[in-house]
Amino acid sequence: MRWQEIDGWLTVEEGWTLEHLAKMVPPGGLIVEVGCWKGRSTAALAQGGEGKRLTTIDHFRGDDEAHFANPSLRLTLDDNLVRCGVGDRVDVIEGESVEVAAGWHEPVDLLFLDGSHDYDSVKADVAAWWPHVRGAMVFHDYCPEWPGVVKAVDEAGLGGCVIPDTSLYIAYKETTCPERDD
Ligand SMILES: C[S@@+](CC[C@H](N)C(=O)[O-])C[C@H]1O[C@@H](n2cnc3c(N)ncnc32)[C@H](O)[C@@H]1O
Repeated sequence: MRWQEIDGWLTVEEGWTLEHLAKMVPPGGLIVEVGCWKGRSTAALAQGGEGKRLTTIDHFRGDDEAHFANPSLRLTLDDNLVRCGVGDRVDVIEGESVEVAAGWHEPVDLLFLDGSHDYDSVKADVAAWWPHVRGAMVFHDYCPEWPGVVKAVDEAGLGGCVIPDTSLYIAYKETTCPERDD
């Protein structure tokens, strides 16, 4: 099965873009995702990123929207990843994004942020994860429908840009991060 068959909000163009970005990560490199839901973006990253490590983080509580309130979300995710042939290549962490980031000790080559979309949460996620990034950080839903995402990303001043025909905002980091030893 391909990631396109998994339910989710990621457009086909956005999924292709994530696949390509995952391909560009060096062999053995680390991809981290915040917010997997049923695994549409997770599978895109995994299917594009063969030979790379992938960790996804989700508290599996969804958010206030009713369509997120799915008690079997974790089971659905696991099933989708297995059906996409990437079940053994994705490390799933059940936890709160900023709490996981606080205990993180490895440089991240590609970070995909698609967790909570309100301004305070995105701002907190940027502050928590950007220091761990040594490659690129990508945000989903940088668009007028999600003003909190746009405001938090703009204020962070990461110097990135929107990838055409998507709501993905990408920021590259060329400087060192705390864990990097080269
Ligand atoms: C928009 S959905 C992710 C969609 C997914 N990337 C896809 O392609 O279908 C957001 C997800 O982030 C998770 N989430 C929201 N806030 C979070 C937080 N603070 N920590 C961990 N997960 C969070 C929710 O449980 C939900 O599954």
